[in-house]
Amino acid sequence: MRGAAKRRVVGASGIGTVACMVLALAAVCVVAAAAQPGGELALPEDPLSGRVLFEAKGCVRCHGIAGRGSGIGPNLGEGHFGGSFLDLGASLWNHVPGMSVTFDVAGLPWPELSQDEMTELMAFFYFIEYLGRPGVAAAGKRVFADQGCTYCHEIGAGEPGIGPDLAGLESFASPLYVAQEIWNHGPTMLASMRELKMSPPNFAEGDLADLSAFIRQQAKSGPQERLFLAPGNPNSGHEIFSRKGCATCHGANARGSDEAPDLSQSDLHRSAEGIAGTMWNHGLEMGDFMRQRGVGWPTFQDRELADLIAYLYFLPFVDPPGDAERGAELFAHRSCAECHGPDELALPEGAEKGPRLVGSTAAASPAALMAAMWNHAPMMKAAILGEALPWPELSGADLRDLRSFLEQQASASQVP
Ligand code: HEC
Ligand code: HEC
Ligand code: HEC
Ligand code: HEC
Repeated sequence: MRGAAKRRVVGASGIGTVACMVLALAAVCVVAAAAQPGGELALPEDPLSGRVLFEAKGCVRCHGIAGRGSGIGPNLGEGHFGGSFLDLGASLWNHVPGMSVTFDVAGLPWPELSQDEMTELMAFFYFIEYLGRPGVAAAGKRVFADQGCTYCHEIGAGEPGIGPDLAGLESFASPLYVAQEIWNHGPTMLASMRELKMSPPNFAEGDLADLSAFIRQQAKSGPQERLFLAPGNPNSGHEIFSRKGCATCHGANARGSDEAPDLSQSDLHRSAEGIAGTMWNHGLEMGDFMRQRGVGWPTFQDRELADLIAYLYFLPFVDPPGDAERGAELFAHRSCAECHGPDELALPEGAEKGPRLVGSTAAASPAALMAAMWNHAPMMKAAILGEALPWPELSGADLRDLRSFLEQQASASQVP
């Protein structure tokens, strides 16, 4: 287990925003992983840190991320990966034969990945969706009018209406900052809407990005630079989740209770501003419920909402436990047991046997399993295809079940 000493705050500072190029983040990103309390997956402090590895390990030679690419491997960018860590691991595994051929052709060595590096890379792929698309000011203008904001707010008119002039937001108007401000003023704003018999705003995906682009455009003349979100820190977000009272209703690991839904089942693999919109859309109902329960309306400062949202975003990334019994069947029937099992007789004469997996630490965590499978992939490929066995394609669920089986065997074999 890695200790608290390794935890570090991300180099990017600022109040919820940082103007930085996504593709040139290398200098900003501090690589540090921390053990996630209660979880098996140590999420990186900065989910963009995998970008550095993507280059350092040579993935960038064949794969594009944001539209550009060499064309040798598929583009791994936007909209490509949902699913959990092991779902992603499965697509990596299934493509090993195809990928390794191109390595051989290019004369490239197979890049070794440590457990932390594997996690960082996968977290980075998973994170791309979080960044969302840039806001469009013209669309934001429509949102501002359609959602009734114009009724109470001006931007840059100098005169407050029912609500304050929003021009003051301009310098920090990233989508998450706007979302944070709206959220913090939620109770007052919702009360004056109730008084006026207005329905509260309901944000669709992209609305908050467009709104913030509109606010910036209105408040400031001259060319607009594109603002990028500071990536939130999911580990700090977990702590904020309990400190702000969310855990009171949603449970310590957001897995739900009698009173509030399991958030890992929610559709939270979406842009950060989309998640902020979801929180707001449930704000009215949650607010009433908070009052009943005597929980105060939580407010957020600085990067707190960004961190919280990064935590929510990564909830579906963490794999649920697998089914060890099904894992045992897979192990036997997907040819793993032929080389890794205890029964050497099953192996054809002269075949290259793999190390005994039953009782090994290779499956101690999802990251350990994926790193081991990746690092041994070229040898395994030679062994498997050499035996004229088909490449054992696996789904994320298969990997979860296999891991549970191997872990169960490992702990059973430790009993004296
Ligand atoms: C020499 C070229 C090359 C390099 C370097 C390379 N890949 Fe690939 N990769 C490919 C090819 C080709 C495919 C498609 C293989 C297939 O379809 O069977 C692929 C497929 C993939 C897939 C599956 C994509 C999908 O659509 O499901 C993932 C994930 C992936 N690579 C990740 C990586 C990572 C991570 C690295 C760096 C550690 C890397 N690749 C380095 C050539 C490469
Ligand atoms: C019914 C009137 C009303 C409507 C409609 C309304 N607001 Fe507000 N808003 C207020 C009031 C009143 C405040 C001040 C709340 C406080 O002081 O806590 C406020 C505060 C804010 C703030 C914080 C401003 C600051 O300077 O800190 C933001 C941001 C904001 N509103 C955005 C919006 C957006 C975006 C919409 C449309 C989706 C909207 N509001 C719709 C009444 C309204
Ligand atoms: C007093 C109990 C309570 C507290 C505290 C609470 N929630 Fe909720 N939350 C609920 C309930 C109940 C719902 C379902 C309401 C609905 O469907 O509109 C909900 C819904 C949600 C949803 C939408 C889920 C979905 O599937 O669409 C999100 C996201 C969410 N809460 C996040 C949070 C966060 C983050 C916090 C802390 C800042 C928090 N909640 C605090 C009770 C609570
Ligand atoms: C034809 C033989 C063969 C088959 C079938 C096979 N492997 Fe392997 N496996 C190997 C060999 C050989 C190695 C060792 C490679 C090395 O040392 O680099 C290995 C290594 C591994 C490792 C790393 C072990 C460690 O201690 O680090 C894991 C994990 C693994 N295999 C999992 C699997 C799984 C899961 C399956 C079934 C889906 C499977 N293997 C099927 C031959 C095989």
